[in-house]
Amino acid sequence: MAKPAVGEARSSDMVTLLSIYIIRLFTTTLIVTKVTVNYKALCYDTESERGGCEMGKWAVIYSSVTGNTRTIAEAIAEQAGDADVFRVQDAPEDLSGYEVVALGYWLRLGQPDPLMLKYLPKVHDAQVVFFQTHGTAPTSEHAITSFARAGYNLGPGCTILGTFGCRGKINPAMLAKRKNAGPDDPHGGPKSMERWKLASTHPDAQDIADAKDLVDRMKHKMVMRDRFLAKKAAKMAALQQKKTDKD
Ligand SMILES: Cc1cc2nc3c(=O)[nH]c(=O)nc-3n(C[C@H](O)[C@H](O)[C@H](O)COP(=O)(O)O)c2cc1C
Repeated sequence: MAKPAVGEARSSDMVTLLSIYIIRLFTTTLIVTKVTVNYKALCYDTESERGGCEMGKWAVIYSSVTGNTRTIAEAIAEQAGDADVFRVQDAPEDLSGYEVVALGYWLRLGQPDPLMLKYLPKVHDAQVVFFQTHGTAPTSEHAITSFARAGYNLGPGCTILGTFGCRGKINPAMLAKRKNAGPDDPHGGPKSMERWKLASTHPDAQDIADAKDLVDRMKHKMVMRDRFLAKKAAKMAALQQKKTDKD
């Protein structure tokens, strides 16, 4: 049989190499896609799991008697831009259309108020931001434990993205009652008076600015997280490719 000319041999080699390259590119793309989806399914909600939520849309759901928590809810919604705001009494049970669900409440007995406490178990498979207002200092154990209680009461499959808390002035009717509390009453005495005085000017302009800042930080957090996941997925895909090449 006649030996192929040098040029002929080279062009058939090129075709083979090109085919191998195209097949590898195709399989790598498939692996990256699969790993990315698997990672998101493991750590966070995928769009398909959440029924095709609108990227970036927030639901801001709040409970408020005297308006403190409502003020913070409105600031959060304004900063989120694309947001629907609901009183907890009117909140939908299906939240799958939202990328973020912000849940706000006032503290009663060191935990979310009764209306929000009743609603929390209905929230499931959502990325949640909690915001709360209270008489106590935001850094107090009392306030921080309340976030834990809120989280404990959520329905299944939720991710807690972040939290925000600030003081909120106490209902004057409540203050009138507590002025007569004896020294053994945990809600009476000079310490309580001091707390009420500190709370009396809140939420103030700084609290509102801080609540808005929280929204920006949450948005940034989601971008960074997605970037991290994509990087990790690409790394895993490269490892998988190496393994396939070896086999
Ligand atoms: C009945 C009642 C109980 C409260 N219990 C707490 C509490 O346990 N801890 C706390 O820090 N503040 C407590 N507060 C203060 C409120 O949480 C605070 O004033 C809040 O900002 C009110 O929110 P709103 O204006 O949205 O209704 C209580 C207030 C009331 C009226």
